[in-house]
Amino acid sequence: MTTQAPPDRRLGQLIFPVALTSLLVLGMVRVVFESLKSRGNVSILDLLGSHHSRVVKLPIMVSDEEVIPDGCNVFEGKWIWDNVSAPHYTEDSCSYLVKQVTCKRNGRTDSEYQNWRWQPSACNLPRFNALKLLEMLRNKRLMFVGDSIQRGMFDSMVCLVQSVIADGKKSLVRIPPRKIFRAEEYNASIEYYWAPFLVESNSDHATNHTVLKRFVKLDSIDNHSKQWEGVDILVFESYVWWMYKPLINATYGFPYKVGEYNVTTAYKLAMQTWANWIEKSISPITQKVFFMSMSPTHLWSWEWEAGTDGNCFNETRPIEKPYWGTGSNLDIMGTIKNVLGKLKVNVRLLNITQLSEFRKDGHTSVYGERKGKLLTREQRSDPKTYADCIHWCLPGVPDTWNEILYGHLLQDYRTS
Ligand SMILES: *[C@@H]1O[C@H](CO)[C@@H](O)[C@H](O)[C@H]1NC(C)=O
Ligand SMILES: *[C@@H]1O[C@H](CO)[C@@H](O)[C@H](O)[C@H]1NC(C)=O
Ligand SMILES: *[C@@H]1O[C@H](CO)[C@@H](O)[C@H](O)[C@H]1NC(C)=O
Ligand SMILES: *[C@@H]1O[C@H](CO)[C@@H](O)[C@H](O)[C@H]1NC(C)=O
Ligand SMILES: *[C@@H]1O[C@H](CO)[C@@H](O)[C@H](O)[C@H]1NC(C)=O
Ligand SMILES: *[C@@H]1O[C@H](CO)[C@@H](O)[C@H](O)[C@H]1NC(C)=O
Ligand SMILES: *[C@@H]1O[C@H](CO)[C@@H](O)[C@H](O)[C@H]1NC(C)=O
Ligand SMILES: *[C@@H]1O[C@H](CO)[C@@H](O)[C@H](O)[C@H]1NC(C)=O
Repeated sequence: MTTQAPPDRRLGQLIFPVALTSLLVLGMVRVVFESLKSRGNVSILDLLGSHHSRVVKLPIMVSDEEVIPDGCNVFEGKWIWDNVSAPHYTEDSCSYLVKQVTCKRNGRTDSEYQNWRWQPSACNLPRFNALKLLEMLRNKRLMFVGDSIQRGMFDSMVCLVQSVIADGKKSLVRIPPRKIFRAEEYNASIEYYWAPFLVESNSDHATNHTVLKRFVKLDSIDNHSKQWEGVDILVFESYVWWMYKPLINATYGFPYKVGEYNVTTAYKLAMQTWANWIEKSISPITQKVFFMSMSPTHLWSWEWEAGTDGNCFNETRPIEKPYWGTGSNLDIMGTIKNVLGKLKVNVRLLNITQLSEFRKDGHTSVYGERKGKLLTREQRSDPKTYADCIHWCLPGVPDTWNEILYGHLLQDYRTS
């Protein structure tokens, strides 16, 4: 048996392999592609919600079983097989799913990845109820801000709620850098905003931006944040775009000059810029803010199974032993902890990294798209080059992130 020398672990912590470059390119091409094929015939009036009729706040019953007890860490637990309550929707029942995530339709033959339910060790998660969520979003906007991982979470949330809304009373429009799903009868919107670094960068144009020559303006956020003003519930995330090289070109302060920054330093400065905006602009009484920790990647199978030499391709079961991949950078996690810890505004952490680390089986692998097209047969037979071990199939892991978000919102509703 030949053994291949694993790459430098230290570098592994920080750098995703070159393959990632192409995935990021694809991610972008996707945005272009999606924006071109805007779905349905939705007018701008629908978008502005000009004809919502009645605004009656119905009380939501929150039973004791639906309350997460104080002190229960819902991010600690295990995946249990549950083909009765999972998944909440199917590829066929949610027409809003983009081709990028419909793994089964794209040729994946196993479907067990859809049947795992996250079970916290110390308590239960409330069962997701779309009507309750919509009621909590009545007259409100929920916005996911970040990169293509966040777009997956947005897609998941839309699919989780859309089945309870009649045709003609729901719409999805793309107005780059935003995607907006509206539930007309609730005057509610679920939105996605493309900002892969949160702060401004040359990758912000949702449909046309450079990938390889990226640079980030670590102290600038206004171009984005003016579109976040007043949003009732904000969920932020930013990680994978930073992790391309150990250094990143950036500007910070004066004189205005592009220089190479250590990625961990750059991330810290960007988070500080973001935090300043939060302190200045968020009204804790009327707005809620969440920050999602990094979504893990499964690029090197030897990390969970010594002696192997693959990636997430062909994986059909979650990892059952303690596991943390080197792709989830601990310095960055530390920065998130510090920044959120110092904020006066309460920003809740959705610490989904560990629970998602177990899900080596959940990625799109070779059953996604590349440059807006499904992989060819030849590409599929070369998973080492073409498997996408960053993005997730839907239904799948991001549904759990949303169930946890739902649990938090339900909690707030009950105590408000
Ligand atoms: C659900 O899982 C159980 C246990 O693995 C299996 O016996 C059963 O056939 C499954 N049901 C469906 C509908 O797949
Ligand atoms: C409809 O929702 C928007 C956005 O959240 C809100 O500003 C507006 O006040 C709502 N309309 C009514 C009639 O409540
Ligand atoms: C922010 O917006 C201003 C005015 O539209 C523009 O000149 C500037 O280039 C933008 N900054 C970035 C980083 O795109
Ligand atoms: C994309 O951006 C580049 C550089 O800013 C520009 O030269 C090019 O014309 C743009 N392409 C499109 C299709 O807008
Ligand atoms: C920063 O930009 C310079 C000039 O374009 C380039 O030569 C260098 O490789 C870039 N550095 C990184 C880390 O991308
Ligand atoms: C970047 O900073 C981190 C933490 O300070 C350090 O461990 C790492 O060696 C630095 N990387 C480079 C390429 O300078
Ligand atoms: C994937 O699994 C199939 C069936 O179990 C097997 O025939 C194939 O060799 C595996 N491919 C890789 C690259 O591990
Ligand atoms: C998130 O959870 C992991 C363990 O699951 C922990 O190591 C990490 O410190 C947590 N992150 C933050 C920012 O609290």
